[in-house]
Amino acid sequence: MTDGDPVDEVIEVIAQSATEIRRGLVGRREDADAENPSGETQAEADVYADELLADRISSIDGVRQYGSEERQETVDCGDDGLSVAVDPLDGSSNLKSNNTMGTVFGIYDEPLPAPGTALVASGWILYGPITTMACARDGTVRKYELAGDERSLVDDGITLPDDPLVYGFGGRVPDWSEAFEAFTREVESDDSLKLRYGGAMIGDVNQVLTYGGIFAYPALEDAPRGKLRLQFEGNPIAYLVEAAGGSSSDGTQSILEVEPDDLHDRVPVHVGNDELIDRLEDALE
Ligand code: AHG
Ligand code: MN
Ligand code: MN
Repeated sequence: MTDGDPVDEVIEVIAQSATEIRRGLVGRREDADAENPSGETQAEADVYADELLADRISSIDGVRQYGSEERQETVDCGDDGLSVAVDPLDGSSNLKSNNTMGTVFGIYDEPLPAPGTALVASGWILYGPITTMACARDGTVRKYELAGDERSLVDDGITLPDDPLVYGFGGRVPDWSEAFEAFTREVESDDSLKLRYGGAMIGDVNQVLTYGGIFAYPALEDAPRGKLRLQFEGNPIAYLVEAAGGSSSDGTQSILEVEPDDLHDRVPVHVGNDELIDRLEDALE
């Protein structure tokens, strides 16, 4: 239960929605005949998850705005309070292949679009063999197992392991900059690290949170701001990874410092252990 704190209420509503979203994936794996504001074809499950979360989150007292990767404009539901930015279904291209997906959320105390420094909490649901939630708030990262209406705390202080183990880099190698490619070669030749890339950012980032390492979806030659969205993906995962003692970067600074122009701005995303992110920024200088 929540103590009336709207941040806790939003987190609880998202956790409660996870079971229904997961159940709603069945039969909604085909493409809808629509595109999202980023110009990507929507899966039926993208639309379903977005409508379910919009309805529930916009009804919470203390929430002023609901913004989503799946809709051009925000749902404005109050004059002040929290702005909740959601990637309703991250990795929906994994639907057809039945691989990991997630729901990502950022809770801001400024109207959207907002910098990550305006986040008061963020987290994700991971639809894996077990449905889990990772949530960062006040500098602490907690992990829960979700089953039905139950949310069980399984870790009340997650920190990135000191010794990194995994790496995963998105985009196509020919589209990477020479500097980024040189960095990846260095990482690949490090025999203490191994490749873990599943095509859903949230599954890949959760591996970094669990085992230590680095995930990146970098700037590309034909997409200098990369693919991932600042409000709905970059900021929420940067906030959580930094709360877990790691670092984030858009290539030159913490992703949380990036000043947005538009709700659907993209951002190059690199998150993981400090020393790997430092080496990455040196490589991109
Ligand atoms: P979404 O399904 O919310 O659009 O996110 C997909 C993203 C992210 O999850 C993943 O890291 C990336 O797209 C994979 O992109 P490619 O298909 O270009 O590899
Ligand atoms: Mn996504
Ligand atoms: Mn999505």
